[in-house]
Amino acid sequence: MAWVRVCGVDEIEREDVLRFDHGVRTFAIYRSPEGEFFATDGLCTHEKAHLADGLVLGHLIECPKHIGRFDYRTGACRRAPVKLPLRTYPTRVEDGSVLIELEGDDG
Ligand code: FES
Repeated sequence: MAWVRVCGVDEIEREDVLRFDHGVRTFAIYRSPEGEFFATDGLCTHEKAHLADGLVLGHLIECPKHIGRFDYRTGACRRAPVKLPLRTYPTRVEDGSVLIELEGDDG
């Protein structure tokens, strides 16, 4: 397990999403309306559109391609056509930075 720095806390607005690439992997990092941070795989489980190009609506991320929705806190599907949940990752804030925990950190 490894904690990886994503960005500064001020680099994501509340109710917004940021793309984060790490090695060959890509993630979507969210800030909730309450100011908490969450992380999921970057690509939609339907047809791999990048969710950081989508729209954050409360605690949901709406995919830009076919407007499927997930709850980014749990990865659960919330609107068709998505059927497979998103993988989520732990986050924490330290010294003004947002970090996510990646197992293996194999890039
Ligand atoms: Fe995301 Fe189709 S690619 S809903």
